[in-house]
Amino acid sequence: MESTRNKLIHLLAENKDTYISGQKLSEQLNISRSAIWKHMNDLKKDGYLIEAKSKLGYRIIGYPDKITANTLQWGLDTNWLGKKIIHREVTSSTQILAHNTAKESISEHGTIVIANEQTSGRGRMNRTWHTKKGDGMWLSIILEPPLPPYLAPQLTLLTAVALADTIKELTPLHPLIKWPNDILFSNGKKCAGILTELQAEQDQIDYVIIGVGLNINQQLEDWPEELQQRATSLRIESGTEWSIQQIIQHFLVSFEHIYDLYIKKGFQVVKTKWEKYGFRIGEMITIHQLNKQQKAIFYGLAEDGALLVKNEENRVERLYSGEIDWFDYSSSD
Ligand code: BTN
Repeated sequence: MESTRNKLIHLLAENKDTYISGQKLSEQLNISRSAIWKHMNDLKKDGYLIEAKSKLGYRIIGYPDKITANTLQWGLDTNWLGKKIIHREVTSSTQILAHNTAKESISEHGTIVIANEQTSGRGRMNRTWHTKKGDGMWLSIILEPPLPPYLAPQLTLLTAVALADTIKELTPLHPLIKWPNDILFSNGKKCAGILTELQAEQDQIDYVIIGVGLNINQQLEDWPEELQQRATSLRIESGTEWSIQQIIQHFLVSFEHIYDLYIKKGFQVVKTKWEKYGFRIGEMITIHQLNKQQKAIFYGLAEDGALLVKNEENRVERLYSGEIDWFDYSSSD
């Protein structure tokens, strides 16, 4: 249930340009005028700028840049995603917190778990994901999708599209997607990754946790040297700092939009958009799988989201897992 404080923020937000009287607030929230006054003081302590005028009432004139569940929810233009937000200043990994929350059934479809800092952020294949400072978007989305487990990888591709749309719509940058889940730029440097984890029975998903990490305001020296060759942030690429809050809210709206379309119309909508952002489609790639490595031409996505390649025997193959990188012409014979 929405807290009184949240309801208060929503009421003030709905009346952005006008004042709302203490009397009206107290009636709508069913609390006393002095309780309203106390809430206003708490909001001010959190960084909200509230103007109070006698006979007119209150209005919000400024919002904190600090990320909290409340500041994220304020003005979040989604229908179901992020209606519940679990925020921590620091946590080990939002994935771990999201799993615990989902297991204990404290979450619901669309719950967001978000932190300003993770001490053990994790990436695919048990890699470390560096999230030391509050300079990026580190969140996990808990979903209960009406899908069989084998379709869950499509949610990773869908998330990549929502991330690429967000970067394209908010910044002057041109994001690309490297199959299946990295967002990078034409210089080959990665700014975001997605980690999809699943709790399922044989033919039914209990829940999916989609972990998303987006480097926003980091500078190169924030990373260890070996990472500086491969990693980048929106700030490094564009030369400007970005509002993390605005990016998170925009991403959640983009995600909800494409998710709803996908559930209604199927994977084709995701595939078409994904291929527009697809990195090096039509080029020679190297595919690394458990104990094999092969070269192939990257054709695009199959209608189920698999990687479509033409292998060295000229056969078209679908691949469902693995890593890809680019054919190194200098070492070819
Ligand atoms: C990858 O590219 O390997 C995936 C990186 C995913 C990182 C995000 S940050 C938020 C969430 N919490 C984690 O511990 N990992 C994901």
